[in-house]
Amino acid sequence: MRAHVKKNMKARIREILELAEPFLNTRKNDIHTRISINLAFQLARIENGDLDIVFPAIILHDVGWKKVPEELQLKAFGPNASSPELNRTHELEGVKIAKEILSKVSYDPYKTSEIIEIIDGHDSRKTAISLNDSIVKDADKLWRYSKEGFFIDTKRFGETPEEGLGRLRTNLDTWFFTNSARALAEKELTQREKELKEEERPNPIRGH
Ligand SMILES: [Fe+2]
Ligand SMILES: [Fe+2]
Repeated sequence: MRAHVKKNMKARIREILELAEPFLNTRKNDIHTRISINLAFQLARIENGDLDIVFPAIILHDVGWKKVPEELQLKAFGPNASSPELNRTHELEGVKIAKEILSKVSYDPYKTSEIIEIIDGHDSRKTAISLNDSIVKDADKLWRYSKEGFFIDTKRFGETPEEGLGRLRTNLDTWFFTNSARALAEKELTQREKELKEEERPNPIRGH
């Protein structure tokens, strides 16, 4: 019975992923979401989060960006954001789309309301309302420390790699709710710093 329920859950998550996909081909959200799903999975395992909540929430958290015109997106987030109200738009549009998708796959209504609440405040709400919310918020930010996330962000924010590393280092103590996310971020950051040093080091083979 339990295996049957688990299988159903897996199939439902896959369905949610498929339904979310058409909304993720903007702002590099396909890459962002894929990486954040993996990070959320890792964090949920360590922190004992509820994957029935965490998975749909992280998959759907940024679907609302599809409704924000691409030329305006960079004004809505990042260190140079000038129109923070646009950021709220992506949360509110995301709530609408997520509700439709979750109802399409007949997701448990009680779980749906927790997922929707997480999506609704995933950027604008500066506190976490539950452990699941903390995990989603942390996975969302932790991606910035991944190799792909770091490369994408520094490029779109017009930063040098050193500036990007400085931004991540500065926020290390303020962005995360869980200790495990902070520890993972620190580990990734050390790795990014090492990679940059290796790139800068003169190559003895090329030098000859
Ligand atoms: Fe977001
Ligand atoms: Fe996000």
